[in-house]
Amino acid sequence: METTNFNQQLVSNRLVLRRITLDDAKDIFDYAVDGEVSRFVTWEQHRSIEDTLAFLNIVIQKYDNKQPSDWAIVEKQSNKLIGMCGWVYVNENHRRAEIGYVLSRKYWNQGYMSEVVSQILDFGFNTLNLNRIEARCFAENTASERVMQKAGLRYEGLLREQMIIKGSNVDIKMYAILQKEWNS
Ligand SMILES: CC(C)(COP(=O)(O)OP(=O)(O)OC[C@H]1O[C@@H](n2cnc3c(N)ncnc32)[C@H](O)[C@@H]1OP(=O)(O)O)[C@@H](O)C(=O)NCCC(=O)NCCS
Repeated sequence: METTNFNQQLVSNRLVLRRITLDDAKDIFDYAVDGEVSRFVTWEQHRSIEDTLAFLNIVIQKYDNKQPSDWAIVEKQSNKLIGMCGWVYVNENHRRAEIGYVLSRKYWNQGYMSEVVSQILDFGFNTLNLNRIEARCFAENTASERVMQKAGLRYEGLLREQMIIKGSNVDIKMYAILQKEWNS
């Protein structure tokens, strides 16, 4: 039986989304060590390349197990890894998934993540045949919220203190888009 490839290579105007390899550790560490980048994410700022390698091994293990995982975001022009995006989870019974993303600070506010999210939504709805794709962010993460809005996700509500992250109770905003909305 054919298995789903949740992280097949995707190409957009300026970017390639491809599988991550251990050779990407240095580029990922370069942004994951930046406290501004990790301010509104669930993971801790990386302190050493070992933190990055431990993370990469989890990503690669998921590929090996044919589970939904992350993509490297590569800028076509420079062939440089500039961030990461992927599936937080995919629930095939409910045809529902959640996406997450992060970008190196040098590349912020140039429309890159909006380009990425459009590409993933297109793949999720038209290739994986998902019905609903969600994204969540810290309530104060305006840039991430804006990415969701620009991609057509709708605000569904504030989840009060839904997570405890780095010792703090965090209010989370829930956004989602349905397949019929994406296609209309
Ligand atoms: C969130 C993030 C991925 C956005 O990526 P990006 O490529 O800069 O996003 P885009 O350029 O496509 O869009 C960003 C939008 O947010 C807006 N924005 C950025 N910072 C803002 C701020 N502080 N207040 C209000 N709007 C802001 C930009 O103006 C832009 O909107 P516009 O096109 O209407 O002008 C990037 O900032 C990042 O990696 N942050 C750290 C990790 C993170 O928070 N990940 C998301 C976890 S949920």
